[in-house]
Amino acid sequence: MTEVTHGYETSPWELRWRGMDVDALQRSESTFALSNGHIGLRGTLEEAEPRGLPGTYLNGFYEQHELAYAETGYGNPEAGETVINVTDGKIIRLLVEDEPLDMRYGAATKHNRVLDFRSGTLARTTEWTSPTGRRVRVHTERLVSFTQRAVAAIRYEVEPLDDDLQLVVQSDLLANEPIESDTSDPRVAAALESPLVSEFAASTDYQAVLVHRARTSGLRMAAAMDHKIEVNDGLRARIHAEDDLARLTVAVDVPKGQRLRITKFLAYGWSAQRSIPALRAQVEAALAGARQTGWKGLLAEQRKFLDEFWATADVEIDGDLELQQATRFALFHLLQAGARGESRAIPGKGLTGPGYDGHAFWDTETFVLPVLTYTIPDAARDALRWRHTTLDKARERAVQLGLKGAAFPWRSISGAECSAYWPAGTGAFHVSADISDAVVRYLAATSDTDFDRECGTEILLETARLWSSLGHHDAHGGFRIDGVTGPDEYSAVADNNVYTNLMAQRNLRAAADATERNPDIAARFDVTAAETADWRKAADAMVIPYDEELGVHPQSEGFTRHAEWDYASCTPGHYPLLLNFPYFDLYRKQVIKQADLVLALHLCGDSFTAEEKARNFAYYEARTVRDSSLSAATQAVIAAETGHLDLAYDYVAEAALTDLHDVHNNVRNGLHMASLAGAWMGTVAGFGGLRDHGGKLSFAPRLPSQLDRIAFRLCLRGSRVEVEILDLEATYRVLEGRSVEITHHGEPVTIGEEPITLPIPAFETPLPVHQPPGRAPVRRGTARIQAGVGPDQTPE
Ligand code: BGC
Repeated sequence: MTEVTHGYETSPWELRWRGMDVDALQRSESTFALSNGHIGLRGTLEEAEPRGLPGTYLNGFYEQHELAYAETGYGNPEAGETVINVTDGKIIRLLVEDEPLDMRYGAATKHNRVLDFRSGTLARTTEWTSPTGRRVRVHTERLVSFTQRAVAAIRYEVEPLDDDLQLVVQSDLLANEPIESDTSDPRVAAALESPLVSEFAASTDYQAVLVHRARTSGLRMAAAMDHKIEVNDGLRARIHAEDDLARLTVAVDVPKGQRLRITKFLAYGWSAQRSIPALRAQVEAALAGARQTGWKGLLAEQRKFLDEFWATADVEIDGDLELQQATRFALFHLLQAGARGESRAIPGKGLTGPGYDGHAFWDTETFVLPVLTYTIPDAARDALRWRHTTLDKARERAVQLGLKGAAFPWRSISGAECSAYWPAGTGAFHVSADISDAVVRYLAATSDTDFDRECGTEILLETARLWSSLGHHDAHGGFRIDGVTGPDEYSAVADNNVYTNLMAQRNLRAAADATERNPDIAARFDVTAAETADWRKAADAMVIPYDEELGVHPQSEGFTRHAEWDYASCTPGHYPLLLNFPYFDLYRKQVIKQADLVLALHLCGDSFTAEEKARNFAYYEARTVRDSSLSAATQAVIAAETGHLDLAYDYVAEAALTDLHDVHNNVRNGLHMASLAGAWMGTVAGFGGLRDHGGKLSFAPRLPSQLDRIAFRLCLRGSRVEVEILDLEATYRVLEGRSVEITHHGEPVTIGEEPITLPIPAFETPLPVHQPPGRAPVRRGTARIQAGVGPDQTPE
């Protein structure tokens, strides 16, 4: 029998939900969202109601609003940006002999929805009996095309089951769809109420187009639909378009055993500059292309695209089917978030929901891009190109702050800083080093010199300038970076955050290397030899605080002298702490929201000895409460490295299942891209031991006792590599392309087409570690038996 956890059936290549649960719609609309990185459609039912939170998004299309401050301060950003629910083309309503198909009425004798990771479609089958006893079977399938970026399509079929029936189908484009907003900020709520101003509406035959402008940001968008209708005879159809609605109505008598089939093609486009006719033409052209390809053609293209992706990116996990499913679910959604963004951001929630206002954070570069770099590098490049397009805004921000170079925003859609909270916003300057780290990783993994010359070197040198102006040499010559916030948001505006300083050190050195590699670009940006020498000097002199007494690195200077948090008095209801305790208290105590120093152990692992890693991990593990979904994956990676494989397994599962189990109780607002990326990271960097320090690829594979086998694939400088991990040995081979130099547990190896099997050395007994009371991850063994139990309820 198929296992069901948290509503989903456990299956390796799909996510299926059987039965109708209105309350669960909110979260399943996020998990069933389809996207290609440009268009995002939440998994709302075709008939639009019942619904959780409707959502159709266009990457980069936002409304602007004033940011609210109780007290103003110099340098506070003034304008906020919010993703908006654009014209909804998913809506297809059905009337069966006058009665609207509505899952809240009548009886759904059969209902299931399935997101298929290989076909890239969301399908639904519903058998419904109307309140007066008419039975129909509705089968729908939809896709957002990976190959035709502006296109989505829906196949809608209805079949009378007992009698000949009159069916009426209404297919809509609906703008300014009313939605309940979660925001407590009235200005954001006002900006989101009817944000679209109609500019053009037209319809002809089965086709319609609506053009709108966002009221304040002025961005313009167009949505268009066209239909192919297949039915035996007797069809009546009417189309009309008004400001916020275009509707095709189809009425037909369908005999029992026959069916009405409608294929709806949708096209979307937006622009800050293009005129109404130009945008209209753009979407009409995209529609023509989609119609010419046809439904079957779109399906075939979609599958081919996904076949290629899985051939390079798949992760096989034997011994835990739910983890296998969650890992592929994660990879599928990461692909959806980044595949066709093409110089747009990858928001923290992708295009699956309105959470975080649709903003992109460091989540992209630090968590999502490592996955994309090794699985679909072009998508990583495009996301970095987006950062590059925002350099002017980052330079302006640096000027405003009295700094040099580029200060990238903490959160943004357009590239302008949108955080109204300094301590955990602009104060988290590490975002600029995170971006440069992603550039360095991408360049090492691809040798993409075009990107280096067009974007990479410029990003590196402008961020190096930021660090050299943000830090200073103290009286002892040390280079200090004071008053910044590291990844842990329960500490703020601290001096010499180890993570930030180590990342800045890398950034400075990478910039010096890049300008030496590309002297003409250096000259174009007036980088002199003296400036490069200053960068290297600052990097060499970087202050990395160390607590000799405790034998650990303080997260930031003085951290290990702070008072301890009173964990013993905290009950599960006190978490997340930020909702129950004042920030000033969190800031002055040793309590950690998310991996910070431990993230440094991962990303800057070559700056620590194995003993330092083990001691640091034990110290921070006891103080990390994981109030952020960005923590578990990093803890998994370092748990695995320091010999805690069972703990790593629990953390990997937590990261991978964050959304499917709704661990943070907010999946309704969209999926957590960083955590989805953590599923891959925990497995590949954790159990696989992948590191890429200095552009060199190393592995240190180890299998946790709960699993029988892991196999993953990576894309490296055009070669496709596979790593298989068994209990006592690991096998490497190149599936396609040139041979690759790696290390296996420290031993250099050249891998080629011929598989190489190497033994896995035994571990020494690790230092014991523990978490704050009640904050251990769900024990996976227990969880698998008691499906449905969240982390806080699980006995330790
Ligand atoms: C985390 C940040 C993260 C943001 C968006 C916050 O809760 O602390 O590190 O960037 O969420 O995911």
